[in-house]
Amino acid sequence: MMILGGRSLQLVYALLILLHMQTSVGFDSTTGDYEIRCIESERQALLAFKQSLVDEYGTLSTWGSEEEKKECCKWEGVQCSNTTRHVTVLELSLLRGGSLSNQLANLTSLQHLSLGYNNFNSVKNLEWLSCLSYLQFLDMSGIDLSRVTNSLQQAINKLPSLTHLVLRSTNLTASTFQSSLKFNNSPVSLIPENLGHITNLEFLDLSYNQFEGGIPKSFGNLCKLTHLVLSNNKLDGMLPEIMGNISGCLQVSLGSLILDGNKIKGPFPDMIKNFSSLVELTLSNNQLSGTLPKSIGLLSKLGSLNISSNSFNGVITEAYFLTLSKLRFLDMSFNPLNINFSRDWIPPFQLNYLGLQSCKLGPKFPSWLKTQRELSILDISRNEISDSIPEWFWNLTSTAFQIDLSSNQIHGVLPNLSTTKFPDSFSLGIDLSKNRLEGLFPVFPTNVTYINLSENRFSGSISSLCTINAEILQFVDVSSNQLSGELPDCMARWTSLVILNLANNHLLGKIPSFIGSLSLLGSLGLQNNSLSGEIPWSLGNCSALQFLDLSYNSFSGIIPTWIGERLSSLAFLLLRSNNFSGDIPLQLCWLTNIILLDLSNNNLYGSIPRCIQNLTALAQKESSTRYYLFNNSNIVGTAWYSGTYADKASVMWKGMERDYGNGNLKNLRIVDLSGNKLTGEIPVQISVLLELVQLNLSRNQLTGRIPSDIGQMRQLESLDLSQNQLSGHLPGSMSQLNFLSTLNLSYNNFSGRIPLSTQIQSFNASAFVGNPSLCGLPLTPTCAGDEKPKSKPTDSGGKDNQEDRSEFWKSFTLGMELGAAIGFVGVLAVKLDHPWKHLCFLLFNNVRVRLSNLKDCLYLLVAAVGFVVREHVSRWGRKLKLFEPSVSS
Ligand SMILES: *[C@@H]1O[C@H](CO)[C@@H](O)[C@H](O)[C@H]1NC(C)=O
Ligand SMILES: *[C@@H]1O[C@H](CO)[C@@H](O)[C@H](O)[C@H]1NC(C)=O
Ligand SMILES: *[C@@H]1O[C@H](CO)[C@@H](O)[C@H](O)[C@H]1NC(C)=O
Ligand SMILES: *[C@@H]1O[C@H](CO)[C@@H](O)[C@H](O)[C@H]1NC(C)=O
Ligand SMILES: *[C@@H]1O[C@H](CO)[C@@H](O)[C@H](O)[C@H]1NC(C)=O
Ligand SMILES: *[C@@H]1O[C@H](CO)[C@@H](O)[C@H](O)[C@H]1NC(C)=O
Ligand SMILES: *[C@@H]1O[C@H](CO)[C@@H](O)[C@H](O)[C@H]1NC(C)=O
Ligand SMILES: *[C@@H]1O[C@H](CO)[C@@H](O)[C@H](O)[C@H]1NC(C)=O
Ligand SMILES: *[C@@H]1O[C@H](CO)[C@@H](O)[C@H](O)[C@H]1NC(C)=O
Repeated sequence: MMILGGRSLQLVYALLILLHMQTSVGFDSTTGDYEIRCIESERQALLAFKQSLVDEYGTLSTWGSEEEKKECCKWEGVQCSNTTRHVTVLELSLLRGGSLSNQLANLTSLQHLSLGYNNFNSVKNLEWLSCLSYLQFLDMSGIDLSRVTNSLQQAINKLPSLTHLVLRSTNLTASTFQSSLKFNNSPVSLIPENLGHITNLEFLDLSYNQFEGGIPKSFGNLCKLTHLVLSNNKLDGMLPEIMGNISGCLQVSLGSLILDGNKIKGPFPDMIKNFSSLVELTLSNNQLSGTLPKSIGLLSKLGSLNISSNSFNGVITEAYFLTLSKLRFLDMSFNPLNINFSRDWIPPFQLNYLGLQSCKLGPKFPSWLKTQRELSILDISRNEISDSIPEWFWNLTSTAFQIDLSSNQIHGVLPNLSTTKFPDSFSLGIDLSKNRLEGLFPVFPTNVTYINLSENRFSGSISSLCTINAEILQFVDVSSNQLSGELPDCMARWTSLVILNLANNHLLGKIPSFIGSLSLLGSLGLQNNSLSGEIPWSLGNCSALQFLDLSYNSFSGIIPTWIGERLSSLAFLLLRSNNFSGDIPLQLCWLTNIILLDLSNNNLYGSIPRCIQNLTALAQKESSTRYYLFNNSNIVGTAWYSGTYADKASVMWKGMERDYGNGNLKNLRIVDLSGNKLTGEIPVQISVLLELVQLNLSRNQLTGRIPSDIGQMRQLESLDLSQNQLSGHLPGSMSQLNFLSTLNLSYNNFSGRIPLSTQIQSFNASAFVGNPSLCGLPLTPTCAGDEKPKSKPTDSGGKDNQEDRSEFWKSFTLGMELGAAIGFVGVLAVKLDHPWKHLCFLLFNNVRVRLSNLKDCLYLLVAAVGFVVREHVSRWGRKLKLFEPSVSS
């Protein structure tokens, strides 16, 4: 009995456990006291939802059907109600791929659904959304909803509780939205009117879509809306009409109106004063114009005003800020505004951020700044200030950590800044570049990480930089001053330095070997000083270097092999105009990231290495990730300057020296080996450098032919092979260099006919002089033998392409005589664009002459007509011979 009783008790227990499992009213097996709240059907729905996803990062590893994972309320991203036990919150991110299945419809009590920035591959239907009738918060940002805009819209209309709707970057264009209109055959995508009927809406974010037009009138009825974010669409309405449209009860509730990055036009309407709750108003990056209404000054709750990058003009006085005592962020940069406050004005506000870049504050230094005791960021660059910096200014720095006074005409001497108090911030930055400051190089506060004093008139030694807390210094640009002396020893401690630009000064001595301790250095500019000696081996420790410019100094010795072996990140290597000698080391071919190689004007001898083909970056289109200096990342914690600074270099471009900066440099692909004593042939491998834009091998002692495949290098804009001993025919493929705008082949031993192309014949004869055996335009009108009747050119296997085209060549010559006709044809071409174009390209379709545009084609057509006329009057009279090259090719 007892035993039986024991058994039945066990049975009862087992049954109980089973029951617990089914109704989810059990005990957690590990802690023993936790009630499982998860509702089984919702758990199944979540599991089925998981099935359709790709969970590459293991975000959903806590989701499972195993016993220990029974409590779905503890799953990653899931929250349940304590009272009803239903899933109420689902917040998922970092999922990669998979489809968004309709299983979520079973989570009927869901209040918060956040699926932003998941990479679902196909969203086909969103009708299930309408089952989630308790939904308050919906975020589907970053999901391509362009194919489900209709079902999204219908579902949203059935969600009475919705207060927050976030649809950033969802490809909502209206070509698929119901409200789309057809206008001039192009779909116009307007913000759907019926979003204005979700009357409980408090927060609406539709930024980064492609909406056009304005804001529908229905939005005026959104009496609870506090945040309206429509940044980065294509809105192009007039601001007064947009404001008029939303002038219902929304006026009273709206706290944040964010409209930046659109194409909104028109003036800033006076009725802004009716939006009395505005705390944040962002209109930057639009096409607004006119003067600002003084009524802005009545928005007494305004904390942030951003109108940067528009075309507002007129004079800004203190009247505009009458009651703005809460203003903290003011950005009016990039407007031609004349900012004219009276000298003793005491503003009602204390700003944290003042951005007035490219306005007009000058010529006096703005004295009202004296009152601002909480500034963190101050940018008054490009403001035509031609004054000295008043002493009180350095008192402002006790709170500011980014100060930009660059590109004014500020003059005078800087005080000793080491005693000024700066905030304990690791990203204190001072930009005083492009002014007229002078005197000895100033002593800086210890905690500075960014210093830009370039393009001033500072003199003396840079050793005062040694007072800086070296470990945190990241950026030093003191280029283009009158600094002298040697590189100070203290630099050895600048172990965080990423950018060092000392170019265009009078620095002396060698590169010290401690340069190797700057292991994060990405950019080193020492060009145009009086530095000498060999490049120290320790520079090879700077393996992060991407930019190295030692041009215009007196460096000597060989080009070290370790540059190729150890500086594998180098994208720019400029050693121009020094005294380097010896061979070009083969190891330079290891620099697979190089896009600019300038070794010109040295004493290099030997041949051009055939391995040059290994410089693969010169053969590839731009890779956006390779050059981090230009791409915003590696300079930690200082978003202020990263990305805006690009290395400056003086590049010989088409025979003229030019300064490149602001990121232009990365678009160039240049090899310049000119002005050395290089011998041997141009390696044929060079023609695989398909993206090369400029090749300069002039003033060497090169022999042999131009590689016959040179025409492959379609991007070439500048080719200089002058003053060598090159010989042979110019390869016919040169006629394919359509972008060529600078060509110099003078003073070599080339022979034969200059190849025919609209590009090549457009150069002056000077590009070809000094080659006695070269003939044809633009050098000579004809080549010897042109007058002899030529045998029929049926042999298409001729090695030189230009021979194939000799008949054409004659006609071309004649055609040039008929040049006056071109203008007439050109006019015709404009009038009759399509027919002419098609006829022309049809006629010359197979001719191996590159026709890049209609004008060229018509040019040839005229030439062809000339040929026909000529052939017709000639004894042979074979009119149709004109088209033989196309038949034979
Ligand atoms: C979700 O609900 C539908 C309809 O009520 C039902 O057919 C389906 O089985 C449910 N799915 C799961 C996983 O419970
Ligand atoms: C629900 O219960 C959990 C755990 O007991 C608790 O942390 C949470 O605060 C509760 N939530 C509410 C809204 O009561
Ligand atoms: C939007 O559409 C474009 C073109 O179809 C696509 O390249 C892009 O990835 C889409 N954006 C999102 C967020 O899916
Ligand atoms: C104003 O609202 C109407 C009706 O919703 C709309 O058609 C129009 O495009 C809106 N205009 C602007 C400038 O917002
Ligand atoms: C602005 O508000 C005033 C009164 O609060 C009202 O009379 C006026 O019509 C409003 N203007 C617009 C354009 O809505
Ligand atoms: C103002 O807007 C511009 C462009 O949208 C942005 O770059 C800038 O950071 C904004 N200023 C402030 C203070 O947020
Ligand atoms: C700067 O501040 C210090 C102390 O905070 C004060 O003694 C000094 O007078 C101020 N200098 C100027 C020029 O306002
Ligand atoms: C420099 O920054 C550090 C760290 O924030 C701080 O402890 C130190 O006091 C600062 N030094 C000065 C002189 O401001
Ligand atoms: C150039 O690349 C080829 C193929 O990757 C390799 O075999 C050769 O060693 C490289 N040449 C040099 C000098 O690095």
